[in-house]
Amino acid sequence: MPLTLAVARETADGEYRTALVPETAKKFAALGAKLRMEQSAGVQSHFLDPDYVGVDFVNGPSEAYAGAQVILRVTPPSTAEIAAMPEGAVLIGLLKPYEAKERLAALNARKITAFALELLPRVSRAQSMDALSSQGSCAGYQCGLIAAARCTKFFPMLTTAAGTIRPARVLVIGAGVAGLQAIATCKRLGAMVEAYDVRAAAREQIESLGAKFVDTGVSADGAGGYARELSAEEKAAQAEKLAKAVAMADVVITTAAIPGKRAPVIITNEMVGRMKYGAIIVDMAAESGGNCVLTQPGEHVIANDVNIHGPLNLPSRMPTHASELYAKNLYNFLSPWIKDGELAIDWSDEIVAGTLLCKDGATVHATVKQVMGDA
Ligand code: NAI
Repeated sequence: MPLTLAVARETADGEYRTALVPETAKKFAALGAKLRMEQSAGVQSHFLDPDYVGVDFVNGPSEAYAGAQVILRVTPPSTAEIAAMPEGAVLIGLLKPYEAKERLAALNARKITAFALELLPRVSRAQSMDALSSQGSCAGYQCGLIAAARCTKFFPMLTTAAGTIRPARVLVIGAGVAGLQAIATCKRLGAMVEAYDVRAAAREQIESLGAKFVDTGVSADGAGGYARELSAEEKAAQAEKLAKAVAMADVVITTAAIPGKRAPVIITNEMVGRMKYGAIIVDMAAESGGNCVLTQPGEHVIANDVNIHGPLNLPSRMPTHASELYAKNLYNFLSPWIKDGELAIDWSDEIVAGTLLCKDGATVHATVKQVMGDA
């Protein structure tokens, strides 16, 4: 029986992306997969139903999921959506594995084989599947744009008849995929950019974008290319050095994250108190608790005349390109396991094993089990 692949409309608040775009639908169809999609599931990313060739459009998520072997999603399904999935189906998406025990329990109750792309091992072979990177680039770009749009100063240096305007000073904290894209975006707009990250390798990457590295003397490389959590002494040393750079900045963009943990609090009340009047903080880590102690997720708060923005789901603000990249990540992840139109997953493959969240009614990912308990 040919593989049936299903996509329903994303239902999370403010989610405009889709897991299947016309280009990837065509490629899946060429591999012999049967494709079923809920009507208008791509519309919010500006992909209309007639743009998809070889896809059956149906009414509602239950019709889309009925009999499906593989379900593709952007965001985690709700409990009701999980209940509409066929028992034993394969689910692939950004499933927020560390967020909700109830969701894991619901997936296991339906014996869903769930792959959470957040868990994808960061090996070179997996780069084309790396949804955290593709979506991180969108988020970092959006942070740069938000900062430029909200800043009360020009980003570039301007020489005008009325005199010369100095460029805005931007400080980016956390220079992973998103932070580097924020740096590049602010540089393109002409700002003077400084940046900081706890990983030693970040210095070269920051400098290669033409930004200045802020050296705090604290370095904290962790497992798998990620940062580890800082000790209390390291946090104090970091805060002391960073406070000066924060005080001089017109814009601070923060993107620091530790996988599976609350975002580190880096900007304290006292640091905000020492910032310039009218300065801006764009806290990309708002979703996971915020890098600034005053950040309110999804809100704009003003403290000491400093504007603190905590935007949520930034990739969804540019759903066309975010969906295109994400759908390609999904295609690159799944397509190696489609042989003659049928699903043939190699469970011993390190990418498959590393991304696998739930199988046969149990949560199987070791780190998720450790953090979430045996859900
Ligand atoms: P992330 O989203 O987990 O974290 C963002 C950044 O925050 C990281 O650069 C991290 O070092 C930094 N950070 C954490 N705690 C901090 C603190 N207290 N102060 C300042 N900065 C702090 O990271 P992301 O962007 O997902 O990437 C992590 C690493 O993985 C990067 O080195 C990236 O280049 C690497 N990577 C490797 C890939 C591969 O295929 N080999 C693919 C994508 C990323």
